[in-house]
Amino acid sequence: MAEKSVYRASTTAPVNIAIIKYWGKRDLALNLPTNSSLSVTLSQLSLRTLTTASSSAGYSGDSLTLNGKPQDIQSSKRTLACLSHLRSLRQALESVDSSLPKLSGLPLRIVSENNFPTAAGLASSAAGFAALVRAIADLYQLPQSPADLSRIARQGSGSACRSLMGGYVAWRAGSLSDGSDSIAEEVAPVSHWPEMRAIILVVSAEKKDVSSTEGMQTTVATSSLFPVRVQTVVPSRMDSMEAAIRNRDFSAFAEITMRDSNSFHATCLDSWPPIFYMNDISRAAVRLVHDINRASSKTVCAYTFDAGPNAVIYYLEESSELVVGTFKAILGEDINGWHGPFGDRLLSVTEGVAL
Ligand code: ADP
Ligand code: DP6
Ligand code: CO
Repeated sequence: MAEKSVYRASTTAPVNIAIIKYWGKRDLALNLPTNSSLSVTLSQLSLRTLTTASSSAGYSGDSLTLNGKPQDIQSSKRTLACLSHLRSLRQALESVDSSLPKLSGLPLRIVSENNFPTAAGLASSAAGFAALVRAIADLYQLPQSPADLSRIARQGSGSACRSLMGGYVAWRAGSLSDGSDSIAEEVAPVSHWPEMRAIILVVSAEKKDVSSTEGMQTTVATSSLFPVRVQTVVPSRMDSMEAAIRNRDFSAFAEITMRDSNSFHATCLDSWPPIFYMNDISRAAVRLVHDINRASSKTVCAYTFDAGPNAVIYYLEESSELVVGTFKAILGEDINGWHGPFGDRLLSVTEGVAL
């Protein structure tokens, strides 16, 4: 039998950590959000996904292997939606250039690895789907822009649309019912505020009990705080956060970041049944940030928590010693004298600069 050609492309994608949180869908099928959101893309030197996509007539069907384990791709409508969009874009290229190999008709093999805990609130779905979409777009040699690819990645996981760009990135909720205007947009490049830094505090590498997808649906359906967050709190915070970034005003950036994280977790607690993503170590980290800021008589660091107990702390380069030093000093120790029944401790402090 003749050898079947294998076409291949690999890419990496970074995580992004929201400073104004996406939480809530207005359209489940298209994965459209109830509100706009804003994030900082972290350096790939810290947390990243590495994905290889290949096509061959020798493969028996589409497959996805994540961290060495085969995934059930057929039951993931959102993964299938990404693959079918990318295939139709490739098909359009093949129909105008007959010299191109007909990759759109071949099975796809996707192999992906996260170098950080998956499904633990460190944005694995963001880096994961950004890498998946870009690896296949590279394999198919698609001419689409990052904004166009963000529209596809959004359908895999909402937060993924923001990982296709570096620096400070907004996901505009959009208003069209087909989702065509629900895309990511760079608010400022990393060079605009090169002093920005982040550390990641790993409190637990365990898979969360309630996925982001499921958690936000419960919140939308049951929380009475949620409509206020979506209608008034977030829109005004989006404006003030963009101004804080524009003016490189760390104090405003930090306060809005912390308040928005708290607001999002408050809507989780207000859901029915309630959802808890933060734990005692997370809350100890919150207290420590407020202690550091109070002792410094100015805001030098800000915490934020996605849907999980792990914290990301933003700070400026000039405060590195104080912020990183303080968190490293409590590594593995009881924090604020708290003795957890499950032996929970701060497990690691990973330094990561913004991209
Ligand atoms: P997280 O807080 O880590 O983003 P989510 O609940 O949003 O957690 O999503 C976790 C899910 O995202 C995983 O169970 C998996 O289905 C998907 N995912 C994570 N990493 C990847 C990846 N590299 N490639 C494809 N899908 C991924
Ligand atoms: C708390 O993007 O993981 O991290 O669209 O259902 O895949 P799906 O959800 P996902 O939700 C992220 C929620 C968040 C906030 C954020 O990243 O903006
Ligand atoms: Co996620």
